[in-house]
Amino acid sequence: MIGTTDIIGPAEAQALAASRLGRRRLEHSRRVAELAARYAGRFGASPDEALVAGWLHDLCRDLSEEEVLAAATRLGVPVGTLERGHPVGLLHAPVAAAELRAAGLEERVARAVELHTVGGPGMDTLAKCLYLADFCEPERDFDGLGKVRRLAETSLDEAVAAAARLTLVEVIERERGVHPGALDLYNEHYAGR
Ligand SMILES: [Fe+2]
Ligand SMILES: [Fe+2]
Repeated sequence: MIGTTDIIGPAEAQALAASRLGRRRLEHSRRVAELAARYAGRFGASPDEALVAGWLHDLCRDLSEEEVLAAATRLGVPVGTLERGHPVGLLHAPVAAAELRAAGLEERVARAVELHTVGGPGMDTLAKCLYLADFCEPERDFDGLGKVRRLAETSLDEAVAAAARLTLVEVIERERGVHPGALDLYNEHYAGR
């Protein structure tokens, strides 16, 4: 656990990530932090908070299934059928958020970390910037990403909606369960159409 008296700014977040993540994951986190900060500057969130969120978003991504499930139980993170099927993929975000919250991380940043994988309803600008940066970081490459990156030049909401749609299509194509948060995020943009 992190000491509860730590003040978590970008430098502390980087050091914490470096103490917990392997080299590849740390490099991913650096790219996400830098892109999230760029989006934050563009769309009106705090670049420093985006850096912190980016460095910390995958803090628990290198845990084993057993470790992430144990951490979820310890921290009171709900574990449903979906999470039990993909513990690391679906729990690394809320578990990291719960741990960081307990350590005194600002709620807005913790919430962004919590929602970075599947999204959810009512995401603020910071949470959307992190979600989008994790989706678009420069080493990612898959069909449809170019369009999301282009949308991210001008509209945060349009880009996030396109990312949420692509994610949902992919999850359904792979015949996996849909997380309610992913559906909420999708419906926030598309339900009125
Ligand atoms: Fe993640
Ligand atoms: Fe990530």
